[in-house]
Amino acid sequence: MKYTSQRGTRDILPVDMPVWHNLEKNCRKLFELYNYFEIRTPIFESTELFARSIGESSDIVSKEMYTFKDKGDRSITLRPEATAPVVRAAIQNNLIEKDKITKLYYMGPMFRYERPQAGRYRQFYQSGVEVFGSKDPALDAEVISLSVQIMDKLGLSDLSVKINSVGCKSCRPKYMETLKEYFKSNAKNLCETCNNRLETNPLRILDCKDPSCQKHIENAPAIIDFLCEECKTHFEKVIYWLNVLNIKYEINKRLVRGLDYYTKTTFEIVSGKLGAQNAVCGGGRYDNLVVEFGGNDTPAIGFAIGMDRMVEVLKEHGTQSTEHRFRLLYIATLGDAAKKLGVELLLNIRKSGYAAEMDYIGKSLKSQMKEADRIKAKYVLILGEDEIKSGKAMLRNMETAEQGEVLLDKVLEEIIVRLQSKGSKF
Ligand code: HAM
Repeated sequence: MKYTSQRGTRDILPVDMPVWHNLEKNCRKLFELYNYFEIRTPIFESTELFARSIGESSDIVSKEMYTFKDKGDRSITLRPEATAPVVRAAIQNNLIEKDKITKLYYMGPMFRYERPQAGRYRQFYQSGVEVFGSKDPALDAEVISLSVQIMDKLGLSDLSVKINSVGCKSCRPKYMETLKEYFKSNAKNLCETCNNRLETNPLRILDCKDPSCQKHIENAPAIIDFLCEECKTHFEKVIYWLNVLNIKYEINKRLVRGLDYYTKTTFEIVSGKLGAQNAVCGGGRYDNLVVEFGGNDTPAIGFAIGMDRMVEVLKEHGTQSTEHRFRLLYIATLGDAAKKLGVELLLNIRKSGYAAEMDYIGKSLKSQMKEADRIKAKYVLILGEDEIKSGKAMLRNMETAEQGEVLLDKVLEEIIVRLQSKGSKF
C-alpha cells in the first residue's frame, strides 16, 4: 500500500452510510421543523476570524488549528468550527435584520489538530444551528430543546443535558479576578499548562483533567455565584422555560466550554455510552460576537452536534436504519442482442426513477444471478437469445423466488408496476 490516510482522519465507508444518512436526515428534518434554513460556508477562512472569536488563549486557537500561508501570503485556517464563519457570512450577506430572527443551520467537516483517540479526530463532522436576533431566555430553552428532540427522534437514551451560565462582560471580569487569585494561591500544585493559563485564561484551568489540578478545581469559586442581576435572571428564566418544555437538565457549575465567545447560557449533551470524549453536542449564547465582527448589536445562540460521536452512539444502540435496496432491478443478459436491449432498458428504468444494474464483467448467467443476490436486487430480468426471439422475458422476484413471463413490448411498464407495488403478482 503506497498511501494511507492522514493521522486523525478516516474514510467513512459505505457500510456505515445508512447510519450517517439517518442522522443527517433527522437533523435536517428537525432543523426545518424549527424553521431553520441551511447555509454552507467555505472550508477555509482567514486565521484572524477564528483567533478573534474563539480566543487566542483557547486550546483550539493556540494548539489545534490547521493554519497555513496560501500563495498570496495570506494566513488561512481550515475551519475548526462553524459559528464564526456563519456569523461572518450572515453579516456579509445581510442576513441579519433589525427586529427579525434569523435561523441558520449547517452540516459539514471541521478540522482540529488534536491528539487522535476514540471519538476525537482531526477531521470530524458537525451539524449545528445558529439563531440571531433574540435575547429571550425562552429561545435558549427552544434551542436546547431542539438538540434534545434530535436525540429523542434518533431513539437515543442515556444522555444528559448539562447547563451553566458564563456571565457577561460586566460580571465575568470580577469572577476571573477571584478565580485567578484562588488558583494563584495554589499555583505550586497546578500542572505546568495551568500555571501558564493563570496569566492567559484562568477559566481554562476548570477544564484541566490533570489529577493535581482536579483537587483545586473542585473547590474553585463557581461563576454562577458571581452573575450580575441580568445574567442571574436570564439563567433562572432559561430554567423556567426548560421546565415548561419538560427538558431534564443538570446544572454544572464547572461547564465553561472551550471557546471564548460565550455569554450567559452554555450547555452540553453528554452520552453515558462514550468514553472520555463523551460530549455529543455543545452550544451556548454569544451576544457580543456579531458586533465584534462589525455587524449591528445582535444577540445570538446556537449549538453543534458532533456527528462522528453520534454515529458511534447510534451504532451502539443498534438503532441504525438498514437501507435495503429493495427496489433494485438487476438485468441479466446473455448474448449481444440481449445486452443491447438490456443497456437500453437500464437507461429507461433509471430515467423513470428506479435503481437498476447489470453486468459489465462478462459473467455467466449463473454468476449474474449470484451477483443480483449479493447486491440485494428485488427483481431480476433474464434476457437471452430465446427471450429476444419469443418477445418475452423472465422476471424473477428474488425475495419470494416466484417468477413469470413479461412481454418485451411492455417490459418497462411491467417492471415499473412491480417495482412500485408492495405485493405483486410475482
Ligand atoms: P464544540 O464543543 O467545540 O462547540 O464542538 C461541538 C461538538 O463537536 C462537541 O460536543 C463534539 O461532539 C464535537 N467535536 C469537537 N471536536 C471534535 C473532534 N476533534 N472529533 C470529533 N468530534 C468533535 C463548537 O464547535 C461550537 N461552534 C458550537 C456552537 C454553535 N456554539 C454556538 N453555536
